[in-house]
Amino acid sequence: MKRRKRINLRESALIILRQRYLLKNDKNEIIETPEELFERVAKAVASAEANFSKDPYICEKYAEKFYEMMANLDFLPNSPTLMNAGCPLGQLSACFVLPIEDSLDSIFETLKYTALIHKSGGGTGFSFSKIRPKGDIVASTQGVASGPLSFIKVFDSATEAIKQGGKRRGANMGILRIDHPDIEEFILAKRNENTLTNFNLSVAITDQFMSALEKKEKFPLINPRNKKVVRYVDPEEIFFLIAESAWETGDPGVIFIDTINKYNPTPHLGEIEATNPCGEQPLLPFESCNLGSINLTNFVKDGKIDWELLKETIHLAVRFLDDVIEINRFPVPQIDKITRLTRKIGLGVMGFADFLIKLNISYSEPSAIEIAKKIMKFINEESIKASYELAKERGNFPAYPGSIWDNPETPFMRNATTTTIAPTGSISLIAGVSSGIEPLFGIYYERKTLENVFIKEFHPLFIEILERENFSENEIESILEEVKEKGILRDMKLPEKIKRLFVTTYEIAPEQHLAIQSAFQKYTHNAVSKTINLPKEATVEDVKNIYLKAYKLGLKGVTVFRYGSKGEQVIYIGGSE
Ligand code: CDP
Repeated sequence: MKRRKRINLRESALIILRQRYLLKNDKNEIIETPEELFERVAKAVASAEANFSKDPYICEKYAEKFYEMMANLDFLPNSPTLMNAGCPLGQLSACFVLPIEDSLDSIFETLKYTALIHKSGGGTGFSFSKIRPKGDIVASTQGVASGPLSFIKVFDSATEAIKQGGKRRGANMGILRIDHPDIEEFILAKRNENTLTNFNLSVAITDQFMSALEKKEKFPLINPRNKKVVRYVDPEEIFFLIAESAWETGDPGVIFIDTINKYNPTPHLGEIEATNPCGEQPLLPFESCNLGSINLTNFVKDGKIDWELLKETIHLAVRFLDDVIEINRFPVPQIDKITRLTRKIGLGVMGFADFLIKLNISYSEPSAIEIAKKIMKFINEESIKASYELAKERGNFPAYPGSIWDNPETPFMRNATTTTIAPTGSISLIAGVSSGIEPLFGIYYERKTLENVFIKEFHPLFIEILERENFSENEIESILEEVKEKGILRDMKLPEKIKRLFVTTYEIAPEQHLAIQSAFQKYTHNAVSKTINLPKEATVEDVKNIYLKAYKLGLKGVTVFRYGSKGEQVIYIGGSE
């Protein structure tokens, strides 16, 4: 093995790596270093290269390139790849969607698959919309049906018991269409504290509903078993109920299911009904996807973006993610089949807020939106080019005929999608940067990890700027003391140019949050993980307006979280999952 230079990791990254990523023996002793971890992953992923080349050195060559890309923290794949590549389990994807039909057979079969996926660190999304409503007839037993909610509870309890192999908190997405007769119960489901703690819930809102809302027409709820209208509701009341629940607890989120299907890259394989747990990855039933994120902060050199280096990294990252599909060991054959048919990958970004600081742009300013578009457009276009080039060597994804790529402009395409904006809850901690495209949460943070270890840190770029601005050591000390107490800079006596750069999430206008999400969505094939954080004083009306704007902007979904509301997020930004 080559002698490796020590990777430059922050203390908090080391804590997380030791707790959850570095391999352990059966006595629970750590048996690899961070350098060895990245080497294990690089080698395992690069072994796929042998499937496409006779060059005896090809695997070694790419193992080295992949190693450098990860060791520099330029790009990291999603957690299951870091945890399981090169290990017997070998399940490398973070995102799965499983089907649920209206039968006990289907429900409990899917429950078993869910257990297998959670054990390997993956998260699962389901649509419960096909389950007949509560009180409906059950022919075989001549009894009454218990409805989707009772089954969501079963999945929640099972998740609680499995705990994602002890390494991650179990994450699920439960989706119900807005025209399901049990929709009100679903919308209210998480208002009681400590219920469905392993689930994010989202209402699948249809264009038909949005149109009924606009035209103030009654909206039909339909029994999925016989397609008969059960009753009519006032769309305004349902819409209010969703906004009110989200205002109170953060749940449910909403997804715009017709917008999602408008961009379904493989409509000939079927309709998309659900997303993964954090909403950024719409998938077909049994489909899975592996994600990876580029650390944007590493591409700013002296206040300027190094486009050439970024381009190289995008191309290498696409190759890496395509290789992951080759070596991935899927928990059930149906998943293997459909994942290899579409070969979806999700390249995204992390450290966007830090990247802005390095470019001297405030997250609150219009130029943040411009740069978001510019950077994501570039990543999207280059990732398509990379997938196109790979397809020339390796062949198109098998479901290409009949897909949206099946046209003379793109005769080659290796992956049905190439881009996704993930939350990067854990991998951004490893890279030591802000998560995904979210703004900063605070300038000083205390995070509790799964194992109850407290990580306490100041934002490293904040300390850097104080030093650059020639504050004395004593001054820095007293500023940090005050920041520790306040968490944010708003009420502090500091130069405006510093305060504007270190603006935090609840200080940013909801419209700006949405505009940033929309800028990224415009150039992302899949969806964007983003929470629209609202100040405590925000009203239910504000939440409704955000939903309306999000729909008009063409977003695929939206999640709000009001400061101080009682909800507990399944995924904590900042990595305490
Ligand atoms: O940073 P990391 O790769 O660990 O994950 P992320 O970007 O925060 O989340 C990406 C996806 O991983 C989520 O949407 C889920 O599908 C899955 N996930 C999970 O299953 N369990 C968790 N505790 C966290 C994430």
